[in-house]
Amino acid sequence: MIAGEKIGFTVVEYGNSRKIEACENEYRNLMVLINDQVYPEGFGECGGQGRCATCMVRIEGGDVSLLSERHRNEESTLGKKGACSANVRLSCQILINSLLNGATVYIEE
Ligand code: FES
Repeated sequence: MIAGEKIGFTVVEYGNSRKIEACENEYRNLMVLINDQVYPEGFGECGGQGRCATCMVRIEGGDVSLLSERHRNEESTLGKKGACSANVRLSCQILINSLLNGATVYIEE
């Protein structure tokens, strides 16, 4: 099996930043990675169905196309939470790939 490309980005939770390195598609999605490496409380409660919005993150930097790829019910779930900013996403809808390289991911309260 060929190892995927290395992806590097930063996750910030309550002002604490952590450098993350992962291989492309090492995790099912960004929510699973954050739960495994940062373990914020109550994060990703619906298990990645795009319904609970507890996995909401704000993304700075990285590839701008990352911010235009909303999936499935992401738009309506974020809308219900009043999150209309283009750089707010559900981390369960974000794949671990090169679009994340160099990004800073802020865990939204
Ligand atoms: S885990 Fe529930 S919306 Fe992402």
